[in-house]
Amino acid sequence: MSEFAAVELIMQKREKGELSTDEINWLVANYTSGVVADEQMSAMAMAILLNGMNRREIKDLTMAMIASGETLNYAGLAAPTSDKHSTGGVGDKITLPLAPLVAAFGVAVPQLSGRGLGHTGGTLDKLESIKGWRASLTNAEFHRQLAEVGAVICAAGDGLAPADKKLYALRDVTGTVEAIPLIASSIMSKKIAEGTSSLVLDVKVGSGAFMKNIDRARELARVMVQLGQDAGVNTSALLTDMSTPLGLEIGNALEVKESVEVLAGGGPADVVELTIELAREMLRLAGKTDVDVAAALKDGRAMDKWRQMISAQGGDPDAELPIASEHHLVLAPNDGVLTQLDALQVGTASWRLGAGRARKEDPIQFGAGVTLHAQLGSVVKAGQPLMTLHTDETDRFARAIEALDGSFKIEAAATPAPRKILLDRIDG
Ligand code: URA
Repeated sequence: MSEFAAVELIMQKREKGELSTDEINWLVANYTSGVVADEQMSAMAMAILLNGMNRREIKDLTMAMIASGETLNYAGLAAPTSDKHSTGGVGDKITLPLAPLVAAFGVAVPQLSGRGLGHTGGTLDKLESIKGWRASLTNAEFHRQLAEVGAVICAAGDGLAPADKKLYALRDVTGTVEAIPLIASSIMSKKIAEGTSSLVLDVKVGSGAFMKNIDRARELARVMVQLGQDAGVNTSALLTDMSTPLGLEIGNALEVKESVEVLAGGGPADVVELTIELAREMLRLAGKTDVDVAAALKDGRAMDKWRQMISAQGGDPDAELPIASEHHLVLAPNDGVLTQLDALQVGTASWRLGAGRARKEDPIQFGAGVTLHAQLGSVVKAGQPLMTLHTDETDRFARAIEALDGSFKIEAAATPAPRKILLDRIDG
């Protein structure tokens, strides 16, 4: 590999120049091995945030991050594979009902997930509220479960895209998370290395998402779909609303409870709608088009898969879920229609109640979070509970209530309207 000087590459990007394939390969390999220092990579991340990268540079960055670690493949697996990645949102528990639902149709779901940081929850944290459930599997356990059950949700090992792990931690503390080239290469390097043959991206738009506006979300989705297609992964994206929370439950065990309701054929309409949309899309990309997805939620097939998936990782699907000891009701101040319920503010309240962490080593409370008693577009009466706040520590209520200040609007003259979840789609 050619030799470069990190400082020269930083200056090149600072002056809006292009980095060549060799330069990007050198930078990522040498950052992973420690030759390029954190402060140099921070400066490069900021230069990329400010000046962008073209499609070729983003592809090279993604490929270099994949090459920094191991890649998985499912050569011995009889079933096709399909996965979903969500860019993250408040109350986004869709992976939980979705993975067993798709597996119920004979498409294997290898889902390597992460933990929550900030106001969005992590899938592993949610599942860890189930007694006995284990997030870490060996490679052999992972492959066995995928073949026998058809669905695995577990922690991504350290071997997958280690360059991304290092860079993501750096971006988190240097104000460089939001750059599209960095988000796209981060997400897609892990998903391509994971080895799935098809992938659906759920790109969230709105206050509770990374992407607050639809044009940027569309751009991110296009870049990621292109990266997937270039790497031979059949990829598409749905753009979905995250201006208001998804479903009625926000917080780890609360979200597991709601997911089980969906798997039992019930649950809130928005969660059911998005689960079905994403399942259809995952199955379509895996070559299954003539299937009645909704029926598998109603007749118990998806629930059977869920129980197998949880048990295979040591979890007890019948165990009582943790419940917080303290509760506080937020009441509607007047009659009318709920015309605003801000996702970021509700997510922040849930986080402050103990459902999330500020630093990755912080503990979380499994029972903490927010239950909504009304959603966007619902008719409410003065004095009716709008939300229940749950925590084990009463001194957390004040800061959570502060986060909710101005989070909702109730208008007497408005007409009730159902929420629109699906905003756009990008096909490969
Ligand atoms: N999720 C990731 O894995 N990486 C990002 O950069 C953003 C979200």
